[in-house]
Amino acid sequence: MATINTIESLDARGKRALCRVDFNVPLRDGAVSDDTRIVAALPTIKALLDQDARVVLMSHLGRPDGTGYMAEFSLEPVAKRLSELLGIDVAFASDTVGPDAQAKSAALEDGQVLLLENLRFDKREKKNDPEFCQELAALGDVYVNDAFGTAHRAHASTAGIAALLPAYAGKLLQKEVETLTGMLDNPRKPFVAILGGSKVSDKVAVIDALIDKCDTLIVGGGMCFTFLAAQGYSVGTSLMEEDWIERAGQMLEKAKQKGVALLLPTDVVCADKFAEDAATKIVDVDAIPDDMMGLDIGPKTAEAYANAILEGRTVFWNGPMGVFEMDAFAQGTRTVAEAVAQNQEADTIIGGGDSVAAVNKFDLADQMTFISTGGGASMELVQGSALPGVEALKEGGQNA
Ligand code: 3PG
Repeated sequence: MATINTIESLDARGKRALCRVDFNVPLRDGAVSDDTRIVAALPTIKALLDQDARVVLMSHLGRPDGTGYMAEFSLEPVAKRLSELLGIDVAFASDTVGPDAQAKSAALEDGQVLLLENLRFDKREKKNDPEFCQELAALGDVYVNDAFGTAHRAHASTAGIAALLPAYAGKLLQKEVETLTGMLDNPRKPFVAILGGSKVSDKVAVIDALIDKCDTLIVGGGMCFTFLAAQGYSVGTSLMEEDWIERAGQMLEKAKQKGVALLLPTDVVCADKFAEDAATKIVDVDAIPDDMMGLDIGPKTAEAYANAILEGRTVFWNGPMGVFEMDAFAQGTRTVAEAVAQNQEADTIIGGGDSVAAVNKFDLADQMTFISTGGGASMELVQGSALPGVEALKEGGQNA
């Protein structure tokens, strides 16, 4: 990240460091139920505190409608959890740029932390509104962006503000970008990519980009049925995108031409309904009953996928192999997760979203080389799109 200033070059002593983090975390019963993203931001927050900075944190949580305070999207429980993790008091502003935020940010002393209320309570955040950018910028002396998970959004707190203050990348954002771009530009070979998830249409650009980079592309999840349809199989009532069959066929052809092994299921777990208590049957892909849907890859497929994963020296995984939230359809995802974890000779990178949930469910997170905190952001980066949150730092770096 040569053109981006990182906090290593920042002297934050006595300054108010306005730091965008991604604290978009799940809440249950008014408390944080998964603090992964908060923990991931700690190195940057601690580095700023080590310099006796006055840290003003800002984040969104969920997708409120932008008409003001909504209790279920308040960041107050996050302030509490952060305070426990840091072992110091974390002040909380009951508004984002209003009187409370202004007063508390002005009153901060060296080494103190303030968290602002949800940025998205103000509709100007998502519009990257210039006035809102100014109001945010007034709360800090320097700007740090550590919100990799939101770097694909061109919002006031991720994009516009970087032009108004000296701008720096935080440690998490830096590590995410370096790891993912390093994987794409210079992977240790063989490079095995595993893609799952329900829809081909959501992943077309990622699949296309990965076919250009990897040696083996493993496809699972609901989207494999569109590929199977492109190969002429009848997929029963499985999730399948009619409009994307032709495109899926083109991707199969592209993989062939590039010498990429694109692996599709040879057997699947079928169910008579989308439910945990469905009647199930394991069938080869040429024998999917007309009235059943595939909800997981079958055992033969899972074994073949695991063997291919073990060959890799770089392994990238995004998207589950089946409906892993239901035990009856979790085995394919579990086998793949275990194979990735078992391959300790490879750089194993989990690309955010549901695959992270799967890795956590099977208690394998500590065996992976890197787990991205950004679902959408990591996919956009892998597909070669510029991330507004990163681009803005390049431009804002001129002020630093
Ligand atoms: C995420 O969870 O992917 C990020 O926090 C971005 O959230 P958004 O999709 O609501 O912008």
